[in-house]
Amino acid sequence: MTHKIILDTDPGIDDAMAIFFAFQSPDIEVLGLTTVYGNVPVTMSARNALTLCELAEQDIPVTQGVGMPWVGPESGYAHFVHGDDGFGNIDFPASQRDLDPRSSAQFIVDMARQHPGEITLVAIGPLGNLALALRLEPNLPQLVKGVAIMGGAAFVKGNVTPVAEANIWNDAHAAEIVFAADWDLKMFGLDVTNSVPFTPDFMDDLELRNQKLGGFVKKSSEFYTDFYSQGRDDRVCFFHDAMPLAYLVNPELFEMTRGHARVSTDPLNRGQTSVAPIGTTMSPLWLEASQIDVATKVDHERLRQLYLDTYAL
Ligand code: BDR
Ligand code: CA
Repeated sequence: MTHKIILDTDPGIDDAMAIFFAFQSPDIEVLGLTTVYGNVPVTMSARNALTLCELAEQDIPVTQGVGMPWVGPESGYAHFVHGDDGFGNIDFPASQRDLDPRSSAQFIVDMARQHPGEITLVAIGPLGNLALALRLEPNLPQLVKGVAIMGGAAFVKGNVTPVAEANIWNDAHAAEIVFAADWDLKMFGLDVTNSVPFTPDFMDDLELRNQKLGGFVKKSSEFYTDFYSQGRDDRVCFFHDAMPLAYLVNPELFEMTRGHARVSTDPLNRGQTSVAPIGTTMSPLWLEASQIDVATKVDHERLRQLYLDTYAL
């Protein structure tokens, strides 16, 4: 079965790796890339998405979305992880293609109305575009097939604060709206994404399988690997963003836990994703919270192989 998706992204090095995986997969049809601030400012995020489409010879709409959190000041961005250009400072020529003139949220709503019940929204950045789309079209949950996100940390520690993962922390109020909506939400957070380190030999293999796209990922991930390898004896990085896409094409690689979920917005716990697995609480407040599926385990070896095989296609 082919999955129609809209990929909401903030490219970003692991975003690039995920976007190419989606383009390469015969089981995924990408209707468009919607962009959001996060790793980089939204103007750079949108330009980077166009550049990745051009490199991959994909002529699909790319939109620019929200540039600020739902509440609070402009974000600080993650150039220290993704480089000044969002691609690990590799000096790659930027695409001159035009953006689709619609906002990311409007594009999501338009596509959902055009293909009712068919689209999975895959969000691998902060969740402002999805929250805004829910405000533009309150029936969005009935118009899409489901939502799969990279974000959150349910039963493990965060990567921005002790309790919060970057995508959720970056726009906690938007995430609260998205988590509370009545749709099929699957969360691929640090519980699984931080459990699979990728070593330089994997990046070499990606390039061997696909010189153009794998070569781009290999080159840009050097800076990213420097960041992740600080304080370790080995060189590793984490390709967080490809996981919800891997799930779409190969769900049996993952173990999922269903639970009631909440996103914290108070300053100390901002962006914390707390999950009470079904049957573990009698608290009425928690029973009221929406139910989501959280990825809690992944088969490392088969995941690695899936990425390599898909890049080779
Ligand atoms: C998430 O934050 C960003 O840096 C990555 O692109 C990923 O989406 C990981 O916490
Ligand atoms: Ca991302």
